[in-house]
Amino acid sequence: MAEFPTPRASVADRARRAARLTLSAAVRATAAPLRAIARTGRADTEPRWAEATWLWQPGWGRGTHDRLYRRPDPYRIGASTYEQQKYGTVMDALTGRRFARTLEVGCGEGDLSVRLAGHTDVLLGVDISAAAVERAAARVPAGTFVRRTLPHEMPDGTFDLIVCTDVLYYWEPVTFRVGTAALLDRLRPGGMLLAYHYRGDFGQAGTADRVHDELRAAARARGLDVEVHTHRDGVGPGAAGARFDVVAAPLPAPVRPVHGVPAPRRPEVAGPAPVPRT
Ligand SMILES: C[S@@+](CC[C@H](N)C(=O)[O-])C[C@H]1O[C@@H](n2cnc3c(N)ncnc32)[C@H](O)[C@@H]1O
Repeated sequence: MAEFPTPRASVADRARRAARLTLSAAVRATAAPLRAIARTGRADTEPRWAEATWLWQPGWGRGTHDRLYRRPDPYRIGASTYEQQKYGTVMDALTGRRFARTLEVGCGEGDLSVRLAGHTDVLLGVDISAAAVERAAARVPAGTFVRRTLPHEMPDGTFDLIVCTDVLYYWEPVTFRVGTAALLDRLRPGGMLLAYHYRGDFGQAGTADRVHDELRAAARARGLDVEVHTHRDGVGPGAAGARFDVVAAPLPAPVRPVHGVPAPRRPEVAGPAPVPRT
């Protein structure tokens, strides 16, 4: 649902993306019978199989990110108004909140992690790039940072805060669907998932609009609330704008005592049968 004009990727970027997505679909279709054989006899609900997917980030896979992080600060974050506004928006949504266990997806070199650390007892940052997580770990000793490629190396356990900024749009449609489900399923009752994505098209597999529209639909289908749903008009390179959503997992309704209802009568307990005298 594009409500604002989005700057277009170059013709070459679009052609590359179309070719990669077509190849991805072809590989998936070819491999489908093999996957079916591999799954024989295993329940579909077994997490290892339910979440099995190809990781396909056309043009933006591990090699690309590793190359980017060969030099520190590839996104020039300190000097970027867009990045600073993004962190400001995310942190404003966390004002006054404290969390037990936080997952930051695609933590990069820890620019947001530094800020999140003050709001959580446990911070787990994951990133596809080894160099990025090393730098994040050096900056945020209170956190734990591991090299992981999500969604297929999803960390164990559940979280009461999950933060995804400028990362989910690298996933092609099937990876995105599986990955979003896996993230939402790891949200604890009372927890929240924050997503913020730049709306510009730089040839990545997905778009911010698709990420946020599908994330909201998947959240609602699970009975989660979408507390915040905003377009940040005009921010970022080319003034493409950004989208920001906050998904909240409701707490279970408290079990209230019922007043004014007479207590059930206790059934009469039969005593021991009298022993007949002889
Ligand atoms: C544009 S940067 C954003 C970094 C950080 N989230 C922020 O907003 O400052 C995208 C980050 O996601 C990481 N990334 C990309 N694909 C990933 C994946 N499949 N799993 C984990 N990290 C990924 C990249 O290495 C990079 O650090």
